Parts: sequence; C-alpha cells; structure tokens
Amino acid sequence: MHSEQIPLIELDQVSKTFGKVPAEHSVQHLLQRLRLSKPKPVTHAVDRVDLRIHRGEVVGLVGESGCGKSTLGRMVAGLLPVSSGTASVDGKPLDTLTAQQRHAVRLKVQMIFQDPSSSLNPRLRVDRIVGEGALLHGLTDKRGLDDYVSAQLQRAGLSPQLRQRYPHQFSGGQRQRIGIARALAVQPELLVCDESVAALDVSIQAQILNLFMDLRDELGLTYLFISHDLGVVEHLCDRVVVMYLGRVVESASVDDLFARANHPYTQALLAQIPRFDIRSTRYDAIKGEIPSPLNPPAGCHFHPRCPHATVRCREEVPALREVSPNHLSACHLNDYR
Ligand SMILES: Nc1ncnc2c1ncn2[C@@H]1O[C@H](COP(=O)(O)OP(=O)(O)OP(=O)(O)O)[C@@H](O)[C@H]1O
Ligand code: SF4
Ligand SMILES: [Mg+2]
Repeated sequence: MHSEQIPLIELDQVSKTFGKVPAEHSVQHLLQRLRLSKPKPVTHAVDRVDLRIHRGEVVGLVGESGCGKSTLGRMVAGLLPVSSGTASVDGKPLDTLTAQQRHAVRLKVQMIFQDPSSSLNPRLRVDRIVGEGALLHGLTDKRGLDDYVSAQLQRAGLSPQLRQRYPHQFSGGQRQRIGIARALAVQPELLVCDESVAALDVSIQAQILNLFMDLRDELGLTYLFISHDLGVVEHLCDRVVVMYLGRVVESASVDDLFARANHPYTQALLAQIPRFDIRSTRYDAIKGEIPSPLNPPAGCHFHPRCPHATVRCREEVPALREVSPNHLSACHLNDYR
C-alpha cells in the first residue's frame, strides 16, 4: 500500500553499540594487549536494523526486556546517535543535514516515556512545561502563548484551568497527559511511545490509549508504539516489528502476525498469551534464559532456545526475508518450506 511513498522514518542497517572497542594503535588498545587494562564489554544493543515507518501508520515494537526497543526508539527520535547505518526522515539522511535542519527534523518526532514524573521538571508549572518548546521554536509568540498552551492541554484532555499547577499536584494519568500536551505543542508528526501506559492502572491505560487513537484521527499522527503488552499492540497497531537481542526477527501486519506468526521466537511470544485473557499476560516466560547482549550466541541469536535449531542455525545468521507480501521473517526454516 505504501511501497511508492517515501517513508516518514527509514532506518537502513542501523546499529547501536554501547562501550567502545579501542582504536588500533591507541594507548588503550596497547594497554589491553599488554593485559594492563581489562577490555570494557561492548553491548550490541541494536544490530543492523532496517525499519520503515510510513505516515499515518501505527507500528508496534515488541520483544523481551533488553532486546533494544528503547535504544531503537531513541535513535528514531534523534535522542541517540546511531553507531553505524543511516537514519532518514522524509528520505533525507540525518547525517547530511545541517545542525539547524536536523533540529527541525527532530521536532517532528517526539517521545512519550513510561514514567511521566521523571520527564517533567518538578519545579515548573504546567504552562511553562507545555509552552516552553513551542515558544523556543517560534510556533507561538508570547502574546499567543496562553491560548496556545490551553489548546494543547485541551487536546490532551486536561482542563486549561490547571495550568498554574505543578506536576506533583496531578495523578499519574494526568501527568502522562501533560507529557503528551508538551509533545503536541511542538507539532510532531510521529510519537515514539515507549511503554507509555505501562506504569498506569488498567482503566487509566485505556483512557490514554484512546487519547492516542483520537489524536491519530484528529492530527494524522504516526506512532512507533513500544510495549510489553501484546494485547495492547494487537488492539492498537497496524503493523508489528519483533526484536530479539538487537535484531528484527519478524515484521508483519497485526492480523498476519497474530494469525500466522512465522518466526519461532514470535510463535513462542504469542504462545504465552492465553486467548481468553490477552490483556493481562506479559511475555516474560519463554523457556530458556535471554542470552546477554554482551555476548550474543553466534548464528541465529535465538538458537539456544529454539526447538527447531539445526547446525546451520548455530553458524549462519538468517536474513530477514519476505515470506508473504509485506511479511518478513529471519529464520532458516523458510528455505525448506
Ligand atoms: N546507555 C547505555 N549504556 C550501556 N548499555 C545500555 C545503555 N542503554 C541500553 N543499554 C543496553 O542495551 C541493551 C538494550 O537496552 P534497551 O533499553 O534498548 O532494551 P529494551 O528492549 O528497551 O528493554 P526493556 O523492555 O527492559 O525496556 C541492554 O542490554 C541494555 O543494558
Ligand atoms: S534460524 Fe534456526 S534457530 Fe533461528 S529461529 Fe529459525 S530454526 Fe530457530
Ligand atoms: Mg525499554
């Protein structure tokens, strides 16, 4: 459907490593060779990921804890530089833009975090929190600021009368709405929601999720929706991307993924959810431990836990390939089907 359009966001073989391998001939390198200094571990948090997000799409990003979802989300939002590969917005690679252009592009993508309390400055009143960015970026002027802030608060479902209060005077759900109003104030096109409702009571979660969907209709917003809750993802998203230890292992439309998961890892994730109670179960109980991203298994990262693993799986990284239209999976089994 979207194949001819330029994606809003495109990641091309994007990786993120934490901790550096010292450059050859550097002092650190020499010290490590002489065993006078211990090598620092390198985490491959995100490993050569391709991802496209088209305007208007709601893309879900799932995978067990530590698989790199937040790191990927932060790179999409421009909050973390990529270690290698190319991130593009509207077809323009970020590393070819001037600092000013990059700044403008960054406003297009806003992040909504899990814990609104830690992302809101406790010493500022709500109107400053919501209005500051818009004023700074010239989206409103001082005279129009009050009305501008009121409009954002209303959009996020908060009464403008509460504008003089401080964050601690609000409930968790309301604080999340303040964070949403602040994001909306800079007129973004994409919201990266990183476990944005995970810390809230279930009834409040539903309200915030409804707000996200209303905003999608009203403002034509696009979403990258990171969630542990597969029920929420099934309910909300158009497409789902599944990560395992830094790599994308499967990507498909929500209907395809939940009806015809291809990758053994995705199948294992989905098998954890009893269908009669999809909302309450989180996927944290797949057999076998998640290997450390500091030292991921060779070949297919999933092989130590995969019931179908063969010798080839231990040696060769499976490529992400189309198994049916717009359904990608990275598993050697598809070569024999
Ligand atoms: N700033 C950092 N410095 C070093 N390592 C990091 C940093 N941020 C993340 N990591 C590591 O990168 C890997 C991926 O982390 P990330 O937070 O992206 O995972 P996640 O999928 O969001 O997990 P969760 O579901 O628990 O939020 C983990 O091994 C994590 O420890
Ligand atoms: S490539 Fe091999 S180990 Fe990996 S998911 Fe497929 S069958 Fe399992
Ligand atoms: Mg995370």
